[in-house]
Amino acid sequence: MDSVKIAPSILAADFARLGEEVAAICAAGCDYVHIDVMDGHFVPNITLGAPLVAAIAPHASAPLDVHLMISPVDNHIEDFAKAGAAIISFHPEASLHPHRTAAAIREFGCKVGLVLNPATPLNVLDYMWDMIDLVLIMSVNPGFGGQSFLTSQCRKIEAVREYISRHNLAIDIEVDGGINPATAKLARDAGANILVAGTAVFKGANGGDYAANIASLKT
Ligand code: DX5
Ligand code: ZN
Repeated sequence: MDSVKIAPSILAADFARLGEEVAAICAAGCDYVHIDVMDGHFVPNITLGAPLVAAIAPHASAPLDVHLMISPVDNHIEDFAKAGAAIISFHPEASLHPHRTAAAIREFGCKVGLVLNPATPLNVLDYMWDMIDLVLIMSVNPGFGGQSFLTSQCRKIEAVREYISRHNLAIDIEVDGGINPATAKLARDAGANILVAGTAVFKGANGGDYAANIASLKT
């Protein structure tokens, strides 16, 4: 498998300097810019909306990977697509009709990610494989940065990787939450090919050297 890709979560960035922070992680070689959208309803926290995504888009040279933690999700897809999202990921629990939501994301020209919470079983994927480009496996409960990686999710990563390999599908496996150099290895070994990291990139062991923090998650 190619080297793992890194998607820094801007949730851990300095919000007062967001444009500069986004430009800095892109210059440091990130593969995606991960944007956590929270509504204070589906998850306890409130973060940012589509106007802010549109404002940072010109500062990003890597694709915008938008993780929607909002319910109901359907009414907001167009706004995030027009704001510049390349990937839009949603939680099946946030949609009455996940198949319809995935189709809507594709209609707006974005890649589709389906997000599995720690307690969400794999069978939500059963009739969705042809509708998605990415499975986003949460290794923390969604809502906050800086939580600890749930090792119980490695078994889920392995199961998704096994299915994708067996059926020869071009679907990415992204893992989100509590990624640091040690847990990055667990996720990579289990079969993840994209890692989201907020704290480990913006407040990592190498301080403001974002390139070194990103490199520490790849090897
Ligand atoms: C949690 C978010 C994550 C989180 C990652 O709901 O989806 O992207 O910000 O932050 P760290 O890497 O600090 O766990
Ligand atoms: Zn996220």
